[in-house]
Amino acid sequence: EKPESVSLCPLGAAPAPEQELLCIFGTGDLGRSLGQRLLQSGYRVVYGSRRPHNCGPLPQGAQVMSHETAAQSASLVFLCIHRENYDFLTTLAPQLKGKVLVDVSNNLKKNLYPEANAEYLQRLIPGAHVVKAFNTLSAWALQNGPSDANRQVYLCGNSVEAKQAVAETASKLGFAVLDRGSLKAARELEDSPLLLFPEWRLPLRLAVGLTAFFFFYLLIRDVVYAYVDQGKNNSFRIMVSLANKVFPIVSLIMLSLCYLPGVIAAIFQLYRGTKYRRFPDWLDRWMLCRKQLGLLALGFASLHVLYTLIIPIRYYVRFRIAASTISKIKENQTSEFDITSAWRGDSYYSMGILGFFLFFLLGITSLPSVSNALSWREFSFIQSKLGYLALFFCTFHTYLYGWDRFLHPSTYKWYTPPGYMLSLVVPSVVLIFKLLLILPCVDKTLTRIRQGWERCDPE
Ligand code: HEM
Repeated sequence: EKPESVSLCPLGAAPAPEQELLCIFGTGDLGRSLGQRLLQSGYRVVYGSRRPHNCGPLPQGAQVMSHETAAQSASLVFLCIHRENYDFLTTLAPQLKGKVLVDVSNNLKKNLYPEANAEYLQRLIPGAHVVKAFNTLSAWALQNGPSDANRQVYLCGNSVEAKQAVAETASKLGFAVLDRGSLKAARELEDSPLLLFPEWRLPLRLAVGLTAFFFFYLLIRDVVYAYVDQGKNNSFRIMVSLANKVFPIVSLIMLSLCYLPGVIAAIFQLYRGTKYRRFPDWLDRWMLCRKQLGLLALGFASLHVLYTLIIPIRYYVRFRIAASTISKIKENQTSEFDITSAWRGDSYYSMGILGFFLFFLLGITSLPSVSNALSWREFSFIQSKLGYLALFFCTFHTYLYGWDRFLHPSTYKWYTPPGYMLSLVVPSVVLIFKLLLILPCVDKTLTRIRQGWERCDPE
């Protein structure tokens, strides 16, 4: 028996009473992905094409018409074509009059043209309302819909109503819209996809530079020195021993460099007695890449932990232990249990583990999906207080590892200190300054300066 039809339709299954019709010019990857997404979100889509009967596969449910008819039928037109092909649009000026034209284009290079694509378009069709939008998304991101890292859509334009219409469509597609102002901002929006990892550039360069420096420094101390001084071939040490020095050393230095700019900024504020004055540009840039510095440092620390795990299974280590045991047996000797060595070993392992745990926590909480779930107080507690604690543990780990070797002249081969001593300079400076800054009298002044800045707004 057939169930009686009910007037209540399940949510989402029923077509909206009147589906808005949107027009897309351009049947390339971006045009097709956008069309598919719009159709899935409940819009009707019409493509404008030079050859309506022969324009390749299009999303199911979309119509194709000539440019003129398509433009006439919709109030919102997405332009998914290259700037080089904008000229023909002038012939459509009458049909496009009063319409919202969404420019999603990007260029292959920065500063290729004197004016932004969207501004050029507005000049070509003065009667239309041009809105720059969606250009920071890839065809892939458009087709698959927003994901955690790809939620933001920037737009700009001179007409508030036009921007409103585009913003509504974008939010129906599930994107979060950020209005960047008038068409003058189009240049910046068009340049932004061309920047390759901009915040990563400086930290990456630093990581490569430090790694190269310490690799050669330790190569000379550990391999070349042994060869020249004792004629010993220690070259096998490059693979594990050297790597397990370079990685933690670079990690410790980079972790401390995350906290150094904060200390410098506090000293600036204390010195100037105000928070109104801008920091120098280099300090601003440095502050902005702290997260990337920290994440790279975490990567290097993880490598150190992995290399440390394999120490017991190394042939070299097993051979040395066996050889020393055999020689003890041969000479009928026993070794005394050295409680100091036990303390030293356990202490620096423990500090390393605690440091790494906190370091890992810092890394996790810097991910957008986690930090979005934290309040600002929680986030700054973890990133600042626990961050300094992580730096302290890692620094202490290294001091304990050095133990009394700082005092032995034989440590300084060719008058050079070991790598870990060099790596302790910046973290020690940061921690000493931080200690000075949290002294009650200094802290009170600093808090007052910062509160003064937070309370009153000069404009
Ligand atoms: C050295 C263990 C985490 C920085 C060492 C060494 C061990 C070790 C066994 C001596 C390596 C050798 O003899 O060649 C651990 C363990 C950790 C940990 C078990 C955590 C699970 C960290 C972290 C940092 C760090 C998070 C800093 C970011 C250092 C440094 C050295 C060192 C700078 C001296 C390297 C050198 O010989 O020049 N650690 N560590 N460690 N560790 Fe760690």
